[in-house]
Amino acid sequence: MSTTLLHATHISHHFDLELYRDVALTLKSSHSAAILGRSGSGKSTLLHHFSTFLKPSTGEVNLLGKDIYRLNDTQIEMLRRYELGIIFQFHYLFKGMSALENIKVATMLAGETIDESLLDKLEITELMSQKISELSGGQQQRVSIARVLSKKPRVIFADEPTGNLDKETANLVMDVLLDYVHIEEAGLLLVTHDEEMAHRCDESYRLEDKKLERIS
Ligand SMILES: Nc1ncnc2c1ncn2[C@@H]1O[C@H](COP(=O)(O)OP(=O)(O)OP(=O)(O)O)[C@@H](O)[C@H]1O
Ligand SMILES: [Mg+2]
Repeated sequence: MSTTLLHATHISHHFDLELYRDVALTLKSSHSAAILGRSGSGKSTLLHHFSTFLKPSTGEVNLLGKDIYRLNDTQIEMLRRYELGIIFQFHYLFKGMSALENIKVATMLAGETIDESLLDKLEITELMSQKISELSGGQQQRVSIARVLSKKPRVIFADEPTGNLDKETANLVMDVLLDYVHIEEAGLLLVTHDEEMAHRCDESYRLEDKKLERIS
């Protein structure tokens, strides 16, 4: 039976200009959803609201049964550490450390162990002893995905996780993310420019004209 992981309602936000108004989105366990939209439409900002990093101008975000903008700092920290997997548009790996050390830090903090088969599936096993600064952009992206999944999160927020990748590698990353969602009964909310990747998700939305419309 699936449960509701994320339920966001009446989300509006403006920086200098209004980005969107009255956005709603629900994500259930064992489900994946993609958000498409033009550059600058506000996709990353929306993901920041849903993942505890930015309070929207108005609206509520309920994540794992919690009204996240009413939590204190410790509660937010616990949620981020144990329950959320956040793959940012610009990945944040420790550049001076090896790929393996980067993954170890995250798994230790979350009280998990590294899943070797995940490294194999992402084709990064051979890269583990290399420093991040010695890896290509796409290799770094796959290391950051391994780091996030090794934490065993309940909800994954991924901002362009296949942005730097060729089609074959992008499909491999999508296979890993979607398999994880089904095996762990997790949820995946993905931002992408790639319609093909979006259509591999259970649901897709488009952010356009300040509205989020369900398209499939
Ligand atoms: N912290 C901020 N302060 C002011 N304006 C911001 C801030 N963050 C984003 N914006 C503006 O909000 C708009 C939406 O930005 P956002 O990064 O959400 O777009 P996006 O849809 O993710 O674009 P892309 O596809 O290029 O990643 C942009 O015009 C951006 O300049
Ligand atoms: Mg963005």
